[in-house]
Amino acid sequence: MNDRIQTAFNNQINEELFSSYVYLAMAAHFERMNLNGFTNWMKQQAQEELGHAMRLFDHINRRGGRVALRAIGEPPSEYGTPLEVFEKALSHEQHITGCINDLYKIALEENDYPAQMELQWFIDEQVGKRRTSEGRWNSGGWQGTTRVHFLCWTGSGANGRGKRRSEGGGLMKTAYLLIAPVLLFSACEPSVPEVTPEEGERAAQIAAPVAAELLRTLVGRLTAALDEGGPSQAFELCSDEAIPLTRMVEAGSEGTLSLKRTSFRYRNPANAPDEAEEAALIFFERAIHDEGEAPSSFVQRVSQGEMRYYKPLFVGEVCLGCHGDPESMDPQVRRALSERYPGDLATGYEAGAFRGLVRVSMPVTMVDPEGA
Ligand code: HEC
Ligand SMILES: [Fe+2]
Repeated sequence: MNDRIQTAFNNQINEELFSSYVYLAMAAHFERMNLNGFTNWMKQQAQEELGHAMRLFDHINRRGGRVALRAIGEPPSEYGTPLEVFEKALSHEQHITGCINDLYKIALEENDYPAQMELQWFIDEQVGKRRTSEGRWNSGGWQGTTRVHFLCWTGSGANGRGKRRSEGGGLMKTAYLLIAPVLLFSACEPSVPEVTPEEGERAAQIAAPVAAELLRTLVGRLTAALDEGGPSQAFELCSDEAIPLTRMVEAGSEGTLSLKRTSFRYRNPANAPDEAEEAALIFFERAIHDEGEAPSSFVQRVSQGEMRYYKPLFVGEVCLGCHGDPESMDPQVRRALSERYPGDLATGYEAGAFRGLVRVSMPVTMVDPEGA
């Protein structure tokens, strides 16, 4: 292979190794946030990038060239919110797209057919990825006026978000990255049937009243405690009663439903999201970011047996006393917070912000007695 190609391939090895580093740093970031689904996904990306580097490495050696490994750049260690991390991963991936395209151009100019064929593999792989992810993403849709969003449902009403986002992305896995969190859980694996519009509708009918009851109960008790004993009594209530009250509402469903409140910025570690909840949270964050508003609910099938319904929660004025700016909180609340929740992530909110989700799980048999 000639010097120009060899240098370009060696540069690309470095880019791929750097990519691996970037994803590894993102994995570390997510692991610190206790987001295990995202962590695993980023680790997998890091492995894949290492594989890309190895392909180029082998190509050079196979042709009697000389691999020259250089220092790998240091990736940033701070990445912000999960949505920001995925945005950064996307723009990084776009940069890599450019590199591969440039490399291909060089291989053309140098009439290097083996190099062109090697690079074709990279290009094909990314295009393939993009296609599957667009298919997935577009398979979601808004359903009538109830605005239940179905994931992995193949049908009409596609919102085309995946397509729109991937336009500027060239050949690489633009849409794939954006879709990634959605692929994290088994709802999108072939073994798990997709949510049909009827099932989504039915799941919402079952779960929406229960989610509403939970919220009514919590806000009712909260308001009463605030009236009675002020912020610190209300704090005790939230701290001691929120989960028992959730169990109580569950019990009303005769043990068939399970309820949880969850958030990326959780206060109580018991409310940290699991993998499917991570996917649901990023789904809402992305909708709010892209479209300026959240869908009113979201239905997920997480396994052969389990269906989930999610309802978004927003910060109201009454919430700010315990979730707003710590500086303007009641001193007793502030003290109780630092004592009881040292790792608290749930302050600094403004009114109107997306706070998290109520999740209602139900057996698939409840939604679809025959099709389970
Ligand atoms: C008086 C203090 C107080 C007020 C007011 C308050 N919260 Fe909380 N909130 C808490 C405490 C304490 C927890 C952690 C205990 C728990 O719920 O498990 C919590 C937890 C949560 C959680 C579960 C996720 C997590 O961070 O652990 C959500 C969601 C939540 N609050 C939303 C709200 C919303 C929405 C409002 C306004 C309607 C509100 N809170 C008002 C004190 C408060
Ligand atoms: Fe790569």
